[in-house]
Amino acid sequence: MYISEIIINNFRNLERIRYEPARGINILLGKNAQGKTNFLEAIYLLASGSSFRSVLDRDLIRLGQNCFSIQATYHYLNKKHSISVQYTSGKRKQFTINNKRYAQTQDRLAAVLFTPDDLYLIKGPPQKRRAFIDNLLKSVSPEYRTSLENYEQLLNRRNTLLKGDLTDPGMLRALDHIFSSIAAQITLARLNLIKILDELTLRFYKLLGGSEELQLKYALTFKLPGGKVNLESIREIMVRVMQEKYIKERQRKTTLIGPHRDDVNFYLNQKNARVFASQGQQRNIVVVLKLAELEVFRRMRGTYPILLLDEILAELDIEKRETILDFLTNSSFQTFMTSVDGSLFNNINGKMVWLEQGRLLE
Ligand SMILES: Nc1ncnc2c1ncn2[C@@H]1O[C@H](COP(=O)(O)OP(=O)(O)O)[C@@H](O)[C@H]1O
Ligand SMILES: [Mg+2]
Repeated sequence: MYISEIIINNFRNLERIRYEPARGINILLGKNAQGKTNFLEAIYLLASGSSFRSVLDRDLIRLGQNCFSIQATYHYLNKKHSISVQYTSGKRKQFTINNKRYAQTQDRLAAVLFTPDDLYLIKGPPQKRRAFIDNLLKSVSPEYRTSLENYEQLLNRRNTLLKGDLTDPGMLRALDHIFSSIAAQITLARLNLIKILDELTLRFYKLLGGSEELQLKYALTFKLPGGKVNLESIREIMVRVMQEKYIKERQRKTTLIGPHRDDVNFYLNQKNARVFASQGQQRNIVVVLKLAELEVFRRMRGTYPILLLDEILAELDIEKRETILDFLTNSSFQTFMTSVDGSLFNNINGKMVWLEQGRLLE
């Protein structure tokens, strides 16, 4: 998948930009606060539907204006598409794909973002790791997106019941039947994904020169038996554990069992990376996790998504930087990366552009 043209109007500090990206590497250079991250944010917004920086939509409009728009032409599996988003202050964002009102299609533009914030993926709270897995699964599986939405609704309803008087315990029983079956769908999809990520990350970790054994493990709120599991076996165990936890859940007035409390653990030579790995090792794990994300996407959707790298290379040592740049140069995906330091890319075959106060100088 690649973008062949992007037009940005009044988004953040970008007044009007029209850019025809290279198929391979695009390098956005500029001093601080010139609009480099804003440019990536515009692409990410088109692809994902919302910003990666938690802001109100109206803060995305260039100061003094009352609407922004972003549109792109992109190519996916030999077909050309157009995608756009328009936002006017006080209204809802309007997305279109091929000039039709937006639907969650499988042909949608897709991007994987890597920012310095992701370096907290290992150390940060479990929500961050769940969000990473969920975003990846949502981008490759509309069924997963639906299951997750259903699960969140059921979880809210269940928590409301647990908070109330619950005059009729039968209501909770009935809810738990469907709750556990959707929870099992999410759990199984995540277990399968972790299995693939575990294998891919180890391979990339070694490729980047890591000598340790990297392992990913999915941590559940209940114990699964060894060996193969399926939807029914997960559901059965879950229902049993929920019965055991029922009194505790009534006391705590919240749901204690289910994928909303699961986590992913990373191990280097069998030691938990959150506690034992150095900052450099944690960074390397995140890098390989992102590379694995691209690869999973390609396997499931037949092509790579677009890669957005915000100031990532400056954080790596020279050796890793060269390996990654080599990897990107030899890969078939389109990359947009930002940097304040153009000299990092001296030997790189990519298109360089400069941003100055929200304007593009090619
Ligand atoms: N809605 C907005 N309107 C105008 N300028 C904005 C808006 N939102 C952010 N900015 C400006 O964008 C600049 C930061 O751009 P950014 O892309 O983060 O910089 P960098 O090039 O360092 O990545 C800041 O100067 C900020 O004030
Ligand atoms: Mg920036």
